[in-house]
Amino acid sequence: MSYECIKLEKSDRLARITINRPDKLNALNIKTVLELTDAFTDVKADRSIGVVILGSEGGKAFAAGADISELQKQDMLSGKEFSERGHRLCNLIENLGKPVIAAIPGFALGGGCEIAMACTLRVASEKAKLGQPEINLGTIPGYGGTQRLARLIPRGVAMDLVLTGRIIGAEEAKQLGLLNRVVPHDELDSAVDELAAQLLSKPPFALQANMEAVLHGTELSYEEACRVEANLFAMTCGTEDFSEGMSAFLEKREATFKGR
Ligand code: COA
Repeated sequence: MSYECIKLEKSDRLARITINRPDKLNALNIKTVLELTDAFTDVKADRSIGVVILGSEGGKAFAAGADISELQKQDMLSGKEFSERGHRLCNLIENLGKPVIAAIPGFALGGGCEIAMACTLRVASEKAKLGQPEINLGTIPGYGGTQRLARLIPRGVAMDLVLTGRIIGAEEAKQLGLLNRVVPHDELDSAVDELAAQLLSKPPFALQANMEAVLHGTELSYEEACRVEANLFAMTCGTEDFSEGMSAFLEKREATFKGR
């Protein structure tokens, strides 16, 4: 499929999905959300892909939110579908089964911040600015932002950000745990590529099991979550990569994982 608002490139087990509306600061119109959903569905099903980088064109914005010219037209009925369309995309990204790294060069506002929060890890330029300014437009985050923000950072700070619409800088976002890494602006691409290469060298099933345990375990009771962890742990013990990891350590050599 050819895309109008995004790009999808694949090479050497890495997929790069790029939001491509730089003139509009990569604002997320409905077409962009649908194309992103299509591209993430594609890479989820593609067993040759181990890691995804979600990036953006232009260098100024990851995404400056939902496209306000479309948002303005929503009523109570279409607004629900508008929000659920965003939920479908963010839930797909969060549950992709392979790590998704958000590369954030600048503004990640509103829906942009929400999509970034659905990614597995977030690496940003020191120029990045994040926030949920929907309150200033008379609404609330609608792509899961009220929920993911309150799970990623302290709930009181999440409340402050959604009620005031305050935009925060990269350093504050990192201190809060909203960003994993902050790097000099010119080093963003290389830092993200390096992290992707590091993750690609890991055993894929163990990556998936870790993500599943962290994401879903925290939504369960402690006892249920430990059962989930034990089952996932047991499953890793049945993989060839587990045998390779153990043998490599004992033989004092680097492990070579095969994704089996
Ligand atoms: N929806 C639609 N268009 C948007 C947009 C959005 N969320 N964010 C930016 N754009 C467009 C602007 O309308 C402008 O288009 P134009 O050149 O055709 O007029 C272009 O992108 C550049 O934006 P501009 O506002 O001129 O850049 P800036 O550097 O002065 O300001 C921001 C940058 C991010 C502070 C400002 O664009 C902004 O506040 N955007 C909206 C953020 C927001 O509220 N997001 C939540 C939406 S739910």
